[in-house]
Amino acid sequence: MTQLTGTPKRRVAILISGRGSNMKSLVEAARAPNYPAEVAMVVSNRPDALGLEWAKAQGLPTLAMDHTHYEDRAHFDCQLSSVLQSAKIELVALAGFMRLLTESFVAAWHDKLINIHPSLLPAFKGLNTHQRALDAGVRVSGCTVHFVRTEMDVGPIIQQAAVPVLPSDSAEDLAARVLAAEHKIYPSALALVASGQAVVDGDQVRSTPQVNQQQTLFSPPLQ
Ligand code: GAR
Repeated sequence: MTQLTGTPKRRVAILISGRGSNMKSLVEAARAPNYPAEVAMVVSNRPDALGLEWAKAQGLPTLAMDHTHYEDRAHFDCQLSSVLQSAKIELVALAGFMRLLTESFVAAWHDKLINIHPSLLPAFKGLNTHQRALDAGVRVSGCTVHFVRTEMDVGPIIQQAAVPVLPSDSAEDLAARVLAAEHKIYPSALALVASGQAVVDGDQVRSTPQVNQQQTLFSPPLQ
């Protein structure tokens, strides 16, 4: 981690809708003294989200914004944006936040809004990714952290992880293998963004870390 002593940590809000296991991985990573971001707030659009309880128990500032109480998407997003601005949030991490965001929200948080998706984008955007990966017969799947653009599951890619798909996999088996990888790349990708090592250049991310060019995942293994 490249956080320099004395460099202020970037204030991050995590948006969730459910279980919040990715949120948990971000919160736990951010406890490291040299992590370049701090989790300043957790917001859920579902008051009964399991992750919200966990965040509360950690002593984090939490907010339930029940989307059903808002007239429409625009009103909800407008209120969400002003809450984040009042809390002096610098980066927003979507972690299983299962709501489409309006164009004006995405524009207001341009290059400050990131998302994790359980596939190797641009393959399998949208829902039900693991069953669709199995149906397509792919031998490798994975997860992606990317900057958010208005179009769903589109935006400059920050980091990806690939996992093998086994012939015996159910959608649940594959989801569990991908989720374990999600928990590793989300903290890593957020650190790249918060430390300024992942910078958007056009529609791609320029990032500085070294990549091991010899690392190839063969699935099935070479014979
Ligand atoms: C994760 O697998 C995440 O990638 C996915 O929802 C799950 C949330 O789990 N997000 C999407 O599909 C967004 N398009 P979590 O609440 O345990 O982090």
